[in-house]
Formats: sequence, C-alpha cells, structure tokens
Amino acid sequence: MTESISNAKYRWRCPSNIAIVKYWGKKENQIPCNSSLSMTLSNSFTEVELELKEKTTSQVIELSYFFEGKRNIHFEQRVHQYLKDQVLDFPFLNQFHLTFHSTNSFPHSAGIASSASAFGAIALSILDAAQDFSKESISQEYFFKKASSLARLGSGSACRSMFSGYAVWGKNEAILGSNDEFAIELPKVHPNFQNMQDAILIVEKEPKKVSSSVGHSLMRNHPYAQVRFLQANERTKRLHEILLSGDFEDFIQITESEALTLHAMMLTSKDYYLLMKSGTLLAIEKIMEFRKETGIPICFTLDAGPNVHVLYAQDYKEEVNRFLNSQLTNCVQEIIFDNMGAGPNKMTR
Ligand code: PMV
Repeated sequence: MTESISNAKYRWRCPSNIAIVKYWGKKENQIPCNSSLSMTLSNSFTEVELELKEKTTSQVIELSYFFEGKRNIHFEQRVHQYLKDQVLDFPFLNQFHLTFHSTNSFPHSAGIASSASAFGAIALSILDAAQDFSKESISQEYFFKKASSLARLGSGSACRSMFSGYAVWGKNEAILGSNDEFAIELPKVHPNFQNMQDAILIVEKEPKKVSSSVGHSLMRNHPYAQVRFLQANERTKRLHEILLSGDFEDFIQITESEALTLHAMMLTSKDYYLLMKSGTLLAIEKIMEFRKETGIPICFTLDAGPNVHVLYAQDYKEEVNRFLNSQLTNCVQEIIFDNMGAGPNKMTR
C-alpha cells in the first residue's frame, strides 16, 4: 500500500439518463430481458467522492455513505451489498474503510430516479481507485465499458449513463456491438436529434410506492411478457434507424407508445399497480393538444413514476418553454429543464 493511496479521494460526476425504449424485466445478474435505448442527460447528475482510509482488519467491507452531508443508512446497506459482490474483482474494497459523499444536482425529493446517476458515479469512483492499484493502464474506451458493466450490477439503467448522447443496452441483432453486459454509445445521430431538450415535469415528489425491482420481478409471470420483449427489441432496432434518418414523426410515435406500454405492463401485472397521477394524464393531454394545434414536434415519455419528460428539439426551445411555463404550472409542482448530455466527468476540485 503506498502512502498516496491511503486517504486518496476519487470524485466523479455521473448524469442520469432517460430511456426512450424501456428496459422492464430482468434475469439473474441484472441481465435485461430486452434491449433498451436512452438519452443521457446533462443537468440531472450525481456527484460522488470516494475516500479510502487505512484500517487494520481486512476481512469485511466497512463503509459509510453520506448523502448531502447526512449518513444514509438505507442506501448504505444497498451499496454494502453491491460492493460485497465486487470484492473478488476489487480486493482493495475490504482493505480500506470506504467513505462515500454524494450529492444530486436535482432536489432529492423531486421524485427523479437517482439510482442510475448514483450507481454510475459509484462505479466510476471504484474503477478509478482500482486503476491506482493496477499495474496495467487501460484505454479511456475500455474504462467506460468496464464502468458501464460495473454500474449495471448496481442499477441496470445506470450502465447507459456512461456515454454521450444516445446509448443502447441489451443484445439486439440489428445493432453491432450491442450486448447484455454493458451499454454502447450510438456515435452518429441525425442533427434533428442532437441537442434534444428534456423538460422534466415534477408531478409528485413523494417516493414511489412500488420500487423498480418489484416492477421488474412482476414481468416474470406477466401474461404479455414475451410479446413485450419482442416488441421492445423491434422498437430498439427501429429507433436506431430513426436516430440515423432523422424522422421525428416516427420518433414521437415510438417514444410515447413506449411510455404508455411501460405503464400498461404495471397495470396488467398480477399484482397490478398505478404510478401515474391525475397531473400526469393532464400534462400528457396538454402536450398532445399543443402538438396538434401548433404542429411543433414535441412528445412525452415517462419513467417508472408519475413525472413526465417532455422531449423536443432545441430549435423549438423558446415556444415550448413558454407553453410549459404558462400552461402546465397548475398540474405540476416544478419543471426541471434539462437536455442531452456528454456523459460523466472526473472532478478535480
Ligand atoms: O435501473 P432500474 O432497475 O431502476 O430500472 C429502470 C427502469 C426504467 O427506468 C423504468 C426504464 C429504463 O430503461 O430506464
């Protein structure tokens, strides 16, 4: 152990991402039942600082997890379990006391799924530390590929946050290099889809009643599961083509149908449940009306929660933001204006 490694700090910022074709249903080891395609965000991110401190015992993992300055025991237990599973690959994890300090750029009660950005930043800081113990240097491309795979084990969708722009995760016959272990970046997209805006309408800030892990597990005996997995793979393939060709109308159709299909899966599972709120439906109706009346190509998507993501091209930013700020304030609590992002950053502050 070198002096410089004990007390070393590794800081990473990792953005969240919004899935356009949704991952819903998984196998062992966070292997997805279908391929998914997402857009990386810019302003919605988590920053994590990992500090390694020398300790005397090295049999068990010791960690403290602070979120916005306060110890968060609940998340600490989740991270503890996650790291326990990684010790064979990263033996330093039980040779040091690990302290994580994390913050989110978005209000923590905003109901935005933060596990993708949090596990993304945790995976990056672990891998960064691991580089200090390793004699081999690896390429930047390989680093992010490994980070994607490691993040996936904490939260499936986190593996897509490692890349700029659009990312695909899950084996898809039509997309070269796509696989179940880590996500890949889609390097060439049509200018129509570059600099896409995402206004996140916060309909409710409460934590959701049913977690994503329960939702994924309900896909195991779901009557529509097999058809859904085929449909998602077909849509990932089609969306990939659309992102290359620039067809915004088809983009809207797939994006909105995916959001509704995700919630339809929840509504039709054996233990059915409902995450949309009246504000969600009101916002969706207003977005569709606005599109019809103005011809401006905007569309909505949903996460596994009541909040609505509004996607639109930068060219329409002024009109759309005016519409959102004037017409939607009565059904939403807050609007977070975000846009397509460039992926994670190592912080040097
Ligand atoms: O990564 P998880 O296990 O939180 O699942 C995320 C699932 C959705 O956000 C609903 C869809 C997706 O592909 O991100």
